[in-house]
Amino acid sequence: MLIVANWKAYVEDFAKTKKLFAASKKLVRTSDCTIVLAPPAPFLGALAEKNRSGIAFAAQDISATLGGALTGEATAPMYAAAGATYAIIGHSERRSMSDTNTIVTEKLLRALAHNLIPILCVGERERDNEGRYLAFVREEIASALSALTPKERMRVIVAYEPLWAIGKTAADAIDQRDLSEMTLYIRKVLAELSSGRGQAHSLVLYGGSVEPENIRSLAEASGVDGFLIGHASVDAQIFSSLIKELS
Ligand code: PGA
Repeated sequence: MLIVANWKAYVEDFAKTKKLFAASKKLVRTSDCTIVLAPPAPFLGALAEKNRSGIAFAAQDISATLGGALTGEATAPMYAAAGATYAIIGHSERRSMSDTNTIVTEKLLRALAHNLIPILCVGERERDNEGRYLAFVREEIASALSALTPKERMRVIVAYEPLWAIGKTAADAIDQRDLSEMTLYIRKVLAELSSGRGQAHSLVLYGGSVEPENIRSLAEASGVDGFLIGHASVDAQIFSSLIKELS
């Protein structure tokens, strides 16, 4: 399973990032999971620099620009140079600030151009009985992948993160049956968008209140390839129990 720990802006001191990194290194040695850490940008380079473990690093976001006279922008080549190999793109917390579908596509292209594996976040704000949320998720995926070649599309990992489930508790997260339906649906959309070529093998993750209490049931029979984990990834003990639930 692929586990992406999205530390968001929860971790604000270097000592804590080092503690979480050390705990993750131990976990990666003893579990079958691939662990990807997404620390806040200022910490990524320092952690990745001396990394000799199996841990990989992800940018939490990347700039849609090509760099230059743009104060404050952190571009794909900067993240690649700092040691990131993945980039989270289109997270709902970025979409709510400024990321439109067009910007998300640009970011995907920037990531791919610098060999960062994109983790594309999609997900509806709320569910309805008419299935409009399915069309919404489809459109987010179709629009994001629109400018990519079939080969590039295959590199994109899709993280399904319904907004109504983010930042809550295991009890508010999606259940196994709904997740299994959604995973199938996303795989179908991906296959259609690539005219059936290989896209069915793209990785699909789930994120939104994954905690030690629900990770095992969500992993079992839901068809997901892994999880994008927010609040439960910034406490070393909780993160360890979470990974142990999967072994
Ligand atoms: P959460 O966040 O695990 O705190 O719900 C997941 C995410 O937003 O990536």
